[in-house]
Amino acid sequence: MPLKQKIDLKRLPKHIAIIMDGNGRWAKKQGEERIFGHHNGVTSVRETAEAAAEIGVEFLTLYAFSTENWNRPKEEVNALMELLVHTIHHETKTLNKNNIRLHAIGNLQSLPKSCFDELQEAINNTSKNTRMTLVLALSYSSKWEILNAVKEIGNKIKAGELQPEEVNEHTLEKYLCTAGIPDPELMIRTSGEHRISNFLLWQLAYAEFYFTEKLWPDFRKDDLYQAILDYQARERRFGKTSEQIAL
Ligand code: IPE
Ligand code: IPE
Ligand code: MG
Repeated sequence: MPLKQKIDLKRLPKHIAIIMDGNGRWAKKQGEERIFGHHNGVTSVRETAEAAAEIGVEFLTLYAFSTENWNRPKEEVNALMELLVHTIHHETKTLNKNNIRLHAIGNLQSLPKSCFDELQEAINNTSKNTRMTLVLALSYSSKWEILNAVKEIGNKIKAGELQPEEVNEHTLEKYLCTAGIPDPELMIRTSGEHRISNFLLWQLAYAEFYFTEKLWPDFRKDDLYQAILDYQARERRFGKTSEQIAL
């Protein structure tokens, strides 16, 4: 039976987050420059977004560029930004065809203007789509995001618009980049690395983690389905006991 058909559509994660890792190693393995891996990673993005939309996932967040990635060699950063502009421009048509809405989180102001403008245009051009929201994390880091939220809350308190006693989890969530988006139930990281690399620290508090040795440019629809099947075989206890969950 195809993997896709084994998935219980009634117990799908609403939101899947992916750390797309291993592009550089994928390219190196074939004696190519790292950027060759990034270029090939675009196919995986397209396939994964399509696979998620096809089965009814509502939100797919892809970690595309971290704040820390600015520290890579200038040539790689420039090539990545160019690839981003180019990809966003060319994929808008496919997004519309698949009824997928584009959204972005991160310090978008720090992106080169061409990149920011292209992104904004694609977000506007896909804003009416309803099947799935594809969230790109760009120039994103979770510590940056949480600090920003804390500063904004501080300003509200200073202005007398908010009382410190009123601040709760929901208040903070309103100031995160992901406001209005449910927390991911499933987080996937490719390339065999077992770390979170400053990604959605708050939002992943109770996510199920799935790690695969596959390098991102090799990731295909069935890899996503495999991760979802693994997720569906787990018991999510949220601090309770197994017996309580069975009730
Ligand atoms: C992930 O692949 C893509 C980005 C971080 C932009 P890497 O470029 O990190 O590839 P590896 O981990 O060096 O193989
Ligand atoms: C994490 O990958 C960031 C993205 C996938 C965009 P990295 O390859 O930058 O992570 P580390 O530095 O190895 O943890
Ligand atoms: Mg990496």
